[in-house]
Amino acid sequence: MLRTNTCGELRIEDVSKEVTLCGWVQKSRDLGGMTFIDLRDRYGLTQLVFNLDWDSNLCKQARALGREFVLQITGTVIERENKNKNTPSGDIEIKVSVLTILNSSLTPPFTIEDDTDGGDELRMKYRYLDLRRAMVRKNLELRHRIAIETRNYLDKLNFIEVETPVLIKSTPEGARDFVVPSRMNKNQFYALPQSPQTFKQLLMVSGFDRYYQIVKCFRDEDLRADRQPEFTQIDCEMSFVEQEDILNTFEGLLVYLFKTVKNIDIPKIPRMSYAQAMKHYGNDKPDTRFEMKLIDLNSVCKGKNFNLFNEAELIIGLCATGAAEYTRKQLDELTEWVKRPQIGASGLVYVRYQNDGTLKSSVDKFYSEEDLKKWAEVCDAKKGDLILVLAGNKHEIRKAASELRLELGNRLGLRDKNKFSCLWVVDFPLIEWNEGDPNVLASLSGRWHAKHHPFTSPKKEDLYIINSMISEIREEIIADRPMNYKVQIPRAMAYDIVVNGVEIGGGSIRIHNKDLQGKMFEILGFSKEEAQKQFGFLMNAFEFGAPPHGGIALGFDRLCSMFGGADSIRDFIAFPKNNSGRDVMIDAPSEISAEQLDELEIELKKQP
Ligand code: AMO
Repeated sequence: MLRTNTCGELRIEDVSKEVTLCGWVQKSRDLGGMTFIDLRDRYGLTQLVFNLDWDSNLCKQARALGREFVLQITGTVIERENKNKNTPSGDIEIKVSVLTILNSSLTPPFTIEDDTDGGDELRMKYRYLDLRRAMVRKNLELRHRIAIETRNYLDKLNFIEVETPVLIKSTPEGARDFVVPSRMNKNQFYALPQSPQTFKQLLMVSGFDRYYQIVKCFRDEDLRADRQPEFTQIDCEMSFVEQEDILNTFEGLLVYLFKTVKNIDIPKIPRMSYAQAMKHYGNDKPDTRFEMKLIDLNSVCKGKNFNLFNEAELIIGLCATGAAEYTRKQLDELTEWVKRPQIGASGLVYVRYQNDGTLKSSVDKFYSEEDLKKWAEVCDAKKGDLILVLAGNKHEIRKAASELRLELGNRLGLRDKNKFSCLWVVDFPLIEWNEGDPNVLASLSGRWHAKHHPFTSPKKEDLYIINSMISEIREEIIADRPMNYKVQIPRAMAYDIVVNGVEIGGGSIRIHNKDLQGKMFEILGFSKEEAQKQFGFLMNAFEFGAPPHGGIALGFDRLCSMFGGADSIRDFIAFPKNNSGRDVMIDAPSEISAEQLDELEIELKKQP
């Protein structure tokens, strides 16, 4: 070893020991005849001290050192005169006797400090320097801790980690695949897995009983703060279980992680059906750190002279506790906020429940104080509260109200990053009608689409809907009629775990019966041949004794950023991509040579 100790471990008890340390120059200060250098490694900072009177050559050498030079020093631990209470090793410093420069460094393009002067793009270009910052390093240490504890928990429960392949087959479901050309199999492509879904099901057919894998997944979809094109899942599957067993096992994992990693005891996780979540929060991943439910005001708002409300399919009220004092300016600003295209509401009506008990609204022309009292009653509003009302088409207005609710939560300080509220959302719809989702191939629009994935089992009590859909679909195909998509939708044995309004994970009980799986593919618009071509390997496996099984995958990056109290998953990934899916450090994706293209027999389309 080139060192006896690390830069974070020496304490007052070590005074008078001779030590050798290695690390990077964080900063240096010259004060009169003295020079102080903060030496940094992964474990912390130690102050080095040089004095012209002790050794003038050595001191001059120290004065010439630049930021981020790599040093090895030997010296004696001494007690500091001016102690630094903010650093664990702040009681001591090293009186250096030997200084070796292990490497020099260019001046870094940004300061290696928590409060750095480097912008996002620059930090990503020099990510290896960004990773020297304690903040980012701590995020990766947290990630490591969560991974270790996850493995500990699952290992104790007999889960076995099995690696599944990364070069697999493209399937036209879910998001778009990343594809990889095969040199040895001309004109054929592998796909990178969007998740190991089919493999983990095959492992259940193989009798592995309990599988997990902390695994990379790849999805070519639009990126956001909580989405990366390559991300990591804690992927799990279990045999001979029902939904209840999976919810309990993975609730156990969350309880264990919160306790061991954050020392937080979380209460029993409540459950809510998808239908309730949509009704009360307009969202299938509600942030339950605060209440503020969406209130249906149709019964008290309609029938007056206010046409906008009379013509609306749904009128929704939100009661913002204690916000009656919002100024006209704040309300105008909120109105502009909901009118932005991303939110899409046509306007915002407000009612102030003033402290003197009177009610004042922006629609006083149409509604008497008695009318407004009824609104307040339905919203359970108290003196000092503000009621905000949106109206429009059911689907869109719920979405807008959900966004407004979150925005109000932010403005009212109700979304504390150190508070955690977990929720199981259950009974998801099995399928949804795809009107043209920008994240899936155009050929999949205008047909049914699996809400979770095509291997998800319907709820037993809704199986009859599947059977009636199948007969209807067959009739429609024979009669060449357009598909009727306004039918009753079967519910799935599918569940999501939501923490603070973020979908941390999702899973389902799977179909393990070949006939039912065939029906599901039929509903999803696959011909028998197509289904056999795409998923024959799984359907055939189901003929060899598939056990009842189900599972879940947790978004590992999201779990880490949530534990770290951050919104973006990027700083919990060592080498993330930017919002255009680029790695600006290695400059990927990039062109490949003409020779490589030739070997793959790929001809590039000329760019206009
Ligand atoms: P699902 O598609 O819901 O389920 O994914 C599981 C979890 O993975 C995380 N996640 C992402 N994280 C970062 N970037 C992304 N682009 C991204 N996409 C998804 C989310 C999500 O909840 N095979 C099924 C699981 C199962 O049924 O067992 C699956 O992949 O946190």
